[in-house]
Amino acid sequence: MSRIPIVGGNWKCNPAKLAEANALLEAWKAKPFDKEKVEVVIAPTALHLGSVKKTLEGLGMQAAAQNVGKNDMGAFTGEWTATHLTDMEVAWTLIGHSERRSKYGETDDETAVKVEKCQAAGLKVIFCIGEQLEEREAGKTDEVNKRQLAAVLAKITNWDLIVLAYEPVWAIGTGKVATPDQAEETQAAIRAYIKEAVSEEVANKVRIQYGGSVTPENCAELIGKPNIDGFLVGGASLKPSFMDIVTTVG
Ligand code: G3P
Repeated sequence: MSRIPIVGGNWKCNPAKLAEANALLEAWKAKPFDKEKVEVVIAPTALHLGSVKKTLEGLGMQAAAQNVGKNDMGAFTGEWTATHLTDMEVAWTLIGHSERRSKYGETDDETAVKVEKCQAAGLKVIFCIGEQLEEREAGKTDEVNKRQLAAVLAKITNWDLIVLAYEPVWAIGTGKVATPDQAEETQAAIRAYIKEAVSEEVANKVRIQYGGSVTPENCAELIGKPNIDGFLVGGASLKPSFMDIVTTVG
């Protein structure tokens, strides 16, 4: 089954200034890509999202948030909801990024609540899973990924709104990219679990990104693997050369 590859850019808490974000997007303009061959979704900071959304769309890209609150509208200072995003015509959000889990204590149950609210709002989700180094070293990689996925499966009624991102935590921001074989083996196991727990149809169509120290230099071998349908890129998505990753994929 052919799956349109999808490349995400997670800007995290960067850049410092809106002017820097606009300068980066201007640099990306110099390297157009074929949006029929690869889907590109960029997640700026929440504060920059509204300001860069139209520029991203002008580049043939889509805008995403990096998170949504587990709450509905109301007295929840500092939060926003999936319906705020759909009202702004933002089609995507990340959910469950390892930094939300490790630095902000987001639990599997909270990711489930968030996925449910995104499904209700019709918001597309890049759902992030992945193990810590000690979990990989203990041979628990597949167990961790299955646990994180199992928490949300019952909340997903429309799999067309879901992309999975496997991001081994030990590869995030470290320069220690997973080998193509490591990533392929783990992502094949994720797809096999979806086949077992959901259906063969969903397993065949759901796209699974790899994330963790992806660069223009290492992306070609990774994307050549059958169960790697794209990337979720952090640091390298803040550079003009991010478009080299996009054009390698598409
Ligand atoms: O969400 C993507 C991010 O976690 C990967 O970061 O800097 O290793 O590409 P990086």
